[in-house]
Amino acid sequence: MAWRSVGSDNADLIRKMREFGIIASESVAQAMIKTDRKYYSPRNPYMDAPQSIGYGVTISAPHMHAFALEYLRDHLSPGARILDVGSGSGYLTACFLRYIDEKGDDPNTRVVGIEHQPELVQQSVKNLNTDDPKMLDSGKLIIVEGDGRKGMPEHAPYDAIHVGAAAAVTPIPLLEQLANGGRLIVPVGPEGGDQYMTQYDKDSEGKIKETRLMGVMYVPLTDLHRS
Ligand SMILES: C[S@@+](CC[C@H](N)C(=O)[O-])C[C@H]1O[C@@H](n2cnc3c(N)ncnc32)[C@H](O)[C@@H]1O
Repeated sequence: MAWRSVGSDNADLIRKMREFGIIASESVAQAMIKTDRKYYSPRNPYMDAPQSIGYGVTISAPHMHAFALEYLRDHLSPGARILDVGSGSGYLTACFLRYIDEKGDDPNTRVVGIEHQPELVQQSVKNLNTDDPKMLDSGKLIIVEGDGRKGMPEHAPYDAIHVGAAAAVTPIPLLEQLANGGRLIVPVGPEGGDQYMTQYDKDSEGKIKETRLMGVMYVPLTDLHRS
């Protein structure tokens, strides 16, 4: 059963998720405390539920962002390359950078958010700059417009890939762009059907291990102009 709560402010929401065990580590809590959801979610920023951010899109619920950070945190180190597919509001992309920067400021760090809605690309850049313009100015965080199903080969291979919308089947291009030792987490399953947050670990020889983490309900990765 999904946990639902609301915080009086960002810190209170994160504190509650920590108390409830949704956030397991202090380092994830700190990255989320430093990234105030008010910059990314104009509606009910501190409610643990998806919220509309316009253009028919939602920012995912805080507990899903927390799970993503927890599942990927061992792969978020200074100098790492991270891809956030369907970056939407830019919130989780910012958390990835803050998590890594807390461990060490490495100019080689790359956190790439890819989003196919042009208006959301612009909005997320605005959100990130209102939060802290240093994130984009540093060149360590990049937001690009494009079809995330194809990944972003220019910055590959990635140590961690997160996908914020459901793939109908295992997304092969993303697996190909995963570094040896890297981890991909992606909801997999049909629109409106049984979907599972699925983890793919690539070992040092490039062999893939697939693990189903939990049942989820996500909107699908789509063509931008589907009818
Ligand atoms: C549930 S929203 C999550 C957004 C973001 N993770 C957040 O929490 O703000 C899913 C996002 O995936 C984007 N999306 C869907 N299909 C896509 C595709 N083929 N390529 C890139 N982005 C896509 C949507 O536009 C939307 O922003």
